Amino acid sequence: MVAILVHGGAGPHRPDDDVEGAKRGCLVAARAGYEVLRRGGSAVDAVEAAVRVLEDDPVFNAGIGSALTRDGRAELDASVMNGATLDAGAVAGVTCFQNPITLARRVMERSGHVMLMGPGAEAFGREQGLPTVPNEALVTAAARRELQEHRTSNGTVGAVAIDSAGHLAAATSTGGTTGKLPGRVGDSPLIGCGTFADDRKAAVSCTGLGEAIIRVTLARAAADLVEDGLDGFEAARRAVATLARARGQAGLILVTPAGQLAWAFSTQRMSRGWVDSRGEGCGFGAD
Ligand code: GLY
Repeated sequence: MVAILVHGGAGPHRPDDDVEGAKRGCLVAARAGYEVLRRGGSAVDAVEAAVRVLEDDPVFNAGIGSALTRDGRAELDASVMNGATLDAGAVAGVTCFQNPITLARRVMERSGHVMLMGPGAEAFGREQGLPTVPNEALVTAAARRELQEHRTSNGTVGAVAIDSAGHLAAATSTGGTTGKLPGRVGDSPLIGCGTFADDRKAAVSCTGLGEAIIRVTLARAAADLVEDGLDGFEAARRAVATLARARGQAGLILVTPAGQLAWAFSTQRMSRGWVDSRGEGCGFGAD
């Protein structure tokens, strides 16, 4: 049994949202990850592949199309975690990689560290031979408009998967929040906050207001509730409910060790797509 679930970000539902583009993009990403699993790839391979598709799609707040800092630049955060080994890798504030999720995976597998930030992360990526892009290549007209209109964005993308060996993985990538201060780091690269995976608990990826997600260590909280025996959807709902005390709204996706895919969100929408042995699907709001 293999399965994958991705999200394309939680937030307010605006009249100009590209609902169909977001649903289609999530499904395309989920299919890409599922194909990796079907061919015998690991859960880590699958979540990286799915998140790369979302980073390459300008509809989403990650990679190309990232939300911009107050100064109009893209500063990207990403992380990945392997539920079999508890290995994790993360990068924060990187400005010249279209696929920071792959850089995060290199940190996990080749750096001896868990997290690298800013110029050090970028130097490591160059050493690793990862392709770089000018910062402007990550900036879209839509992201500039959002900044000019002072509209907040809580996009973020992520994926969770279970592979044929029963191992779990989670990955998350984001441009963060529109108009953020340069140097601001959200939940996405923080293990236990935006991303968590443990084969004995669950794999979880979060989206929404990072400042609130960090305060309740949302991803770890949801995984612990699964370990306590809750159904996946109930665990997701209860974890998201803890955000009220931290004055924030967010959403999360998870996969349990039994292969159940589940999600919850307290925002108006959280685009998502999934593929498992029973078929595939996608959603945007409460649908
Ligand atoms: N959840 C993404 C962020 O707040 O940066």
